[in-house]
Amino acid sequence: MTYRTPRLGADADGVAAAADLLRNGQLVAFATETVYGLGADARNADAVARIYEAKGRPSFNPLIVHFADASRAADHVDLPRQALELAATFWPGPLTLVAPLRPGHGLSSLVTAGLDTVALRVPAQESAQRLLAAFDGPVAAPSANPSGRISPTTADHVLAGLDGRIAAVLDAGPCAIGLESTIIGWESGRAVLLRAGGIAVEDIAEVLGVPPGPPDTAGITAPGQLGSHYAPGAAVRLNASAARGAEVLLGFGEITGDLSLSKSGDLREAAASLFDRLHTLDATGRPIAVAPIPERGLGLAINDRLRRAAAPR
Ligand code: TXA
Ligand code: MG
Repeated sequence: MTYRTPRLGADADGVAAAADLLRNGQLVAFATETVYGLGADARNADAVARIYEAKGRPSFNPLIVHFADASRAADHVDLPRQALELAATFWPGPLTLVAPLRPGHGLSSLVTAGLDTVALRVPAQESAQRLLAAFDGPVAAPSANPSGRISPTTADHVLAGLDGRIAAVLDAGPCAIGLESTIIGWESGRAVLLRAGGIAVEDIAEVLGVPPGPPDTAGITAPGQLGSHYAPGAAVRLNASAARGAEVLLGFGEITGDLSLSKSGDLREAAASLFDRLHTLDATGRPIAVAPIPERGLGLAINDRLRRAAAPR
């Protein structure tokens, strides 16, 4: 089978070429010990928007940010003491930790879907280690499959789903674990299991002294209030062609508004700016009206997010 997306060997040249592509805001799939990730520079909003575009994801989920080592990861967040213990035991490895972002962290708000926490991982796979060290920056990477399809554990799986939509795949053979990382977060100072995965919960319990609890879902009454979703405090009205009353207007294309998601009507630019614009308008304390966004390409994920923001709470 011949593909349009080049397959890079996991040697020094291949790793250097992959790091250059990431620096240029391109998408590169790479092996980790869990599954192949679809990587982009986590500081570059346009590059992160391309991840959603390539996967055809109909919603913006927060992504995991990958680092070469724990000290680089710790630059961006305040890791709770227990997180430091888990990191010391399981990093590099198939463990993801969710922690509060530090001011000036520099990550695109599209990576975190507007949340004030971020998921961090230091993979052990050798070529992933070399790529992350060569790039020397944060790499956002969900699994490298089209939305709704099974996670890829070989470069062929990646190409079968994403050929022509990504700049390259760094082929390091099959993934050793083949199952996504275990995700641990903290709620009110208590460790919670956000996703079961490559590291057994028993092994985590041994380090913590207690098993991680279930995430707290009590008190959730609407999708916009789910802990993993950011929703503005003010009321949101969709498909608006003009502001009414006290509203501030978030424009798109020909509808200029007080702020615009993209004056040229570019959906990738709109996705890249969405959470920053919502935060800025939310800070005004006024209700937010939003111009219509076309229901195609990245518009699906943008509209999904806006509908949640506008849902009654
Ligand atoms: O093994 C893995 O973890 C793979 C490889 C490529 O590293 N990556 C992966 O990423 O599975 P992804 O994007 O498919 O999974 C990200 C999940 C989200 O669905 C969400 O459940 C959780 O991580 N997550 C990310 N940020 C979060 C946050 N701030 N708070 C809570 N959960 C978060
Ligand atoms: Mg996935």
